[in-house]
Amino acid sequence: MIKVIRSAREMFKYQRRIKERGGTIALVPTMGALHEGHLSLVAAARQKADHLVVSIFVNPLQFAPAEDLSQYPRDFNADKKMLEPFKPLVIFHPDASDLYPEGFQTEVQVKSLSKKLCGQFRPGHFAGVATVVAKLFNIVQPDHAFFGEKDYQQQLIIKKLVRDLNYDIHIHTHPTVREYDGLALSSRNAYLTPAERKAAGVLYRALTRAKKDIREGETDVQKLGFMLRRIIGFEPTVRIQYLSIVDPETLENIKKIDRRVLVALAVHIGKTRLIDNMVISPQ
Ligand code: PAJ
Repeated sequence: MIKVIRSAREMFKYQRRIKERGGTIALVPTMGALHEGHLSLVAAARQKADHLVVSIFVNPLQFAPAEDLSQYPRDFNADKKMLEPFKPLVIFHPDASDLYPEGFQTEVQVKSLSKKLCGQFRPGHFAGVATVVAKLFNIVQPDHAFFGEKDYQQQLIIKKLVRDLNYDIHIHTHPTVREYDGLALSSRNAYLTPAERKAAGVLYRALTRAKKDIREGETDVQKLGFMLRRIIGFEPTVRIQYLSIVDPETLENIKKIDRRVLVALAVHIGKTRLIDNMVISPQ
């Protein structure tokens, strides 16, 4: 069966009862509008513990005022249906007023990592993510929590949060699930027009080209960056916000590609912002 819990208080009590009986809990935090990328995390979580909790909460704290909080797709019944095959499970689906009551003022910040990549363009975003994830960890008390490599910087920040604040939680990350043309599944793909959707395929083409060139010995960061910008430039509707080749642990710029690197990018296509990344090792 699927049990839906709508308040933090009830979720906390439910989790306590499981713990008292020696049970273990795996948590998959989401903002809903579920797709196969989310479900790959749910499937892995199902295997890892006796009890599975999927949270569905569109977290206002991680959206800037001009961003897409109000348009973000919400369809609880469709999400619940997609979770049917993973029964039994709990869906934790609180209201914003329950997690952020009047007068809420605490923020969790993973300082340096949150300023890099997306953080340069979305100030406050990762503090919003870290704060809600810290709250979910406190409320659900999971033994295991699952995150996607699609949001590479996010999973790095969560791992840091867990170490820095001594959460006794094992963080698992899983590879990006992609469409037929390599486009990473994302709830925001629903915003794309058919023409934009087609153009969006260029992101993965650029990343696979980066992998090929690095594997074939390219070590020059600037040259590779230039080449990737040229490939993406062939799609005139795709505007690059950033394209970075950085250290996969610190997200700092690197001088030369002589070890594992993260190629990360964010683009706008029409009104939609998409991100993608690939970790690549020279061989
Ligand atoms: P959301 O965008 O709903 O994503 C929930 C989880 O699914 C994240 O860990 C994300 O990395 C993962 N995911 C998204 N697309 C994926 C794909 N194509 N393949 C594999 N995994 C994918 O990320 C958030 O929500 C929020 O920031 C959250 C962590 C819930 C905090 O509010």
